[in-house]
This record gives sequence, structure tokens and C-alpha cells, in this order.
Amino acid sequence: MTELISASGYIADARADVIVVGVHAGEDAPIIPASASGIDAAFDGRLAHSLAALDNTGSASALTRLPAPVELAAKLVFAVGLGDPEEIDDEVLRRAAGTAVRAAFGHESVAIVFEGDPAATAVGAALAAHRFEGYKTEGDDEGPPESISVYGASEEAVRRASILAESVALTKDWSDTPANLLRPPTFAIEIERAATDAGVEVEVLDAAELSAGGYGGVLAVGGGSSVEPRLVRLSYRSEAATKHVALVGKGITFDSGGISIKPAGGMWDMKGDMAGAAAVVGATIAAARLGLEVNVTCTVALAENMVSGTSYRPSDVITIRNGKTVEVLNTDAEGRLVLADALSRAVEDEPDAIYDVATLTGGQIIALGKRTMGLMGTDTETERVRRIGEEVGEHGWPMPFPEDIVKLMESPIADVAQCGTGLKRDAHMIQGGIFLSHFVPEEIPWAHLDIAGPADSDATYGYIAKGATGVPVRTLVALIEDFE
Ligand code: BES
Ligand code: MN
Ligand code: ZN
Repeated sequence: MTELISASGYIADARADVIVVGVHAGEDAPIIPASASGIDAAFDGRLAHSLAALDNTGSASALTRLPAPVELAAKLVFAVGLGDPEEIDDEVLRRAAGTAVRAAFGHESVAIVFEGDPAATAVGAALAAHRFEGYKTEGDDEGPPESISVYGASEEAVRRASILAESVALTKDWSDTPANLLRPPTFAIEIERAATDAGVEVEVLDAAELSAGGYGGVLAVGGGSSVEPRLVRLSYRSEAATKHVALVGKGITFDSGGISIKPAGGMWDMKGDMAGAAAVVGATIAAARLGLEVNVTCTVALAENMVSGTSYRPSDVITIRNGKTVEVLNTDAEGRLVLADALSRAVEDEPDAIYDVATLTGGQIIALGKRTMGLMGTDTETERVRRIGEEVGEHGWPMPFPEDIVKLMESPIADVAQCGTGLKRDAHMIQGGIFLSHFVPEEIPWAHLDIAGPADSDATYGYIAKGATGVPVRTLVALIEDFE
């Protein structure tokens, strides 16, 4: 893990392979802020001129690499645009820091100074300083820097940024891990190890215990696999807490679709169908390491949705932990079944709020794209998630509960149908949220975060790299902080 360092003094005195300065957008040339004046002096006052000659006028995240002048104890100077100084917000800083840190991969040490809040710069830098190491038998030297000194960032800010980034990295690594290497029993063991290290209490239910506990959704979905499903519960308790937040996550370690099998094309992507579980575990661990004064309970349902003679079938009627019966219509809508059990269990603790996170529907991607989570639930909580997500740079948008879609999910033979009857695809994402609402009593503040799109990225930009994103770990941590 990259060491993040709180640095003070002049950046021109930094001993680092790469010095990063932020510059503001100007008309024909960037504007060099006071924080970079020492670096400008080392360039004989010609930094703006040189950057302009290389077409960097300071627009947000524009990056130019320059050889460092001899006066500096650095090899390279990176200038990164921060855009219009009037419009600098935390996300501009996080993205610019991320862009610079990724450009510095392969170098050992980086020193960075931006105008604006150094805490945001630290978060962007820390998030970018990670890559999924993969399984190539020959390594390379192109990895993240060993240390990043953030000028002006307090010890506290650096500690918080490191803890957040480590939880995001853990979440990303689990999501990117191939499905043969992360199946429910092994995922449960890995979660147990990570949570225990953070001082979080762990309880793991195996198939026999799930059966005794009436967890019909997890058992049905996991029944086609050659390995057992698991339900993992984490509890973090703070002595100073007055509130209790429950997190719930979908942990399908591979989603073949089951008997309602998926087409071959993009099926490999379903190794990441446990990203919701990974994110809520990551957030719980971060809450514990930050010592947040809120009690957090995290419930994740881990199952592998496979095809075999023991698979569940379309037409099956199953009974969820809270006693409700569900008519199964499509075994590929498995996420809502495991979540129904996990939500039912979470509700039993009478928390002050519940947030569930799931790569639930392709409909979320159709409706909102790859970078905006679909939010459903009670008005107060969807709005809270939207507002806090916006602040941390993880966007979401609230969805309605239309009466016709609620009706579409009535079953002639069970309490609720798993999907729109007649397998209608109308308001696909919303069907998922409506189904889940049957397992959360109306009086409990609740939000469901559909992250089918935002869980991974097709592109590399700012602090986000192609692959798993770790969304919405930072939103969840900020949500928990909102209850302090
Ligand atoms: N895991 C998928 C949703 C998904 C799709 C996540 C694409 C990430 C990327 C989910 O289990 C699923 O298969 N949903 C179906 C539901 C349908 C069968 C009712 C879908 O969205 O098509
Ligand atoms: Mn599915
Ligand atoms: Zn799925």
C-alpha cells in the first residue's frame, strides 16, 4: 500500500521523484497559484509560458510532464489543471490528484500541492494509488508510487484518506477477483479475516444454519452450486454511539443466470456480482478503523448462481426469512431473493436506517448509465444518499414507486412475484426496488442502491481506473458519519 504523508513547508524543497503542482485555467496560458510559486521560480518564472506552449491552459485534469530544473530535488514536475479557480470543488481536486498520481505510476515518490482543501487532494491521490495486481507470472515496475506527500494535508486528513482508500482497494480487489478464486465459502473466510483485523465482530452462517433460520432465498439461489452459500454478519460497536446503521449487500460470487441462463457474451462480467457485498464490508471496516461513533451492522448474502440438477427453477415458490412467500419467475433475478433474506435479518435488529447495495439490474444501466446509481426507498434516505453521494463524487438519482409497477408484481399464488408478471420488463430497475420494499417495514428509513453500472468502469479517468470502482464505499462511510 502506498504511504500517504502529511507534508508542510515549501514544495520546492520536496525530495521526491515527481513534484505535482496544480495550475488554474487562464485565457491563453495557465495561472500559477501562490502554492506553486517556488516551482515557477525554479523554471525562471517561465512555467506558465512553457505549459501554454504545450497546450496546457489549466483546464480541469489537463496534465503536462516536464523535466525538473536542476534546482529541484526531483526528476519530473507534473502540472495538472484545476480549471476555473471560482469553480474548484472537492471532486475537481480528487480527479486532478488522481490523474497526476496515475501518471506517476512507475516512480517511487510523489509530492503534491494544490490550492483548495488538501483533504480532498489526499483522497484523490490515495484512491488512484491502487491497481488490481492480477495473475501475470512476470511482474512489472509500473505500479503505484511507494509514497505520496500531500502538502498542507493534516495528519488527520491523511489518516482518513488512507483508511478510505484501503477500504475502496479491498472492495475493488474482491470485485475484480475471478469467480473460481472467490466462491461463497472462501469469500466468507476473507471477509472474516479482514473484519477481524479491524476489530469488527463476525458471525458466519453456513447452509445448515441458513436452513434452520429459514433463509429460503439464499438457499434457493445458492442451491445449484457445488459449494454452499453463506450469510455473513459483521457488527461494529462504538461506546459513544446513539444510532445504529444497518448495511446489506448482494454477494453473488458468479451469476450465470441459473436455469434462466444468461447469453455467453458478457457473462464473464458476472464475477463482479458481489460488488455490493464487497462495498458494504469495505465501508464497515472503514467505519471501525475511523472509530466512528455509530453502531454498524453489516449483513451480506453470499451465493453462486449456477446451473445443475439442484438449481432452483422458474415457478418455484420459496419462503423468505420474514415468512413471506415469493413466486420465482426467472432464476436470473437472483439478487433480490438473497437480499430479501438479508434485509429481513437486518430489520430484526431495529436499526435507525438500512442501506442495501447491489448490482441488481441491467435496467439501472439502461436508465442511468455507468456513473449514476439508481436509488429507491424512503424519501428521506434516497435524498440523503443522493446529497452525500454528490459530495463525495459518487452520483445517484432517486426513482419513483409507480402504482402500475407495484401491481405488476402481484402473484396469483404467492405473497409477491419475483419479477413483473408475464416477465414484463417495464421499469426493470424499479421492479427490483419494489420487490425489496416488501422486506423492509414502512417505518424504517431505507435506501436501496442499484450499482449494476457504477460498480465498474469501462474507462480510466481521474482517480477511477478501468475495472471495479469500489463505489459506493465512500458514500456509505459518509452516510454513517451523518448519524454521529
Ligand atoms: N447481476 C445481474 C444484473 C447486472 C447486469 C449487473 C449487468 C451488472 C451488469 C442481475 O442478477 C440480473 O441478471 N438481472 C436481470 C433481471 C431480470 C432477469 C429480471 C437483468 O437485469 O436483466
Ligand atoms: Mn442475475
Ligand atoms: Zn445478479
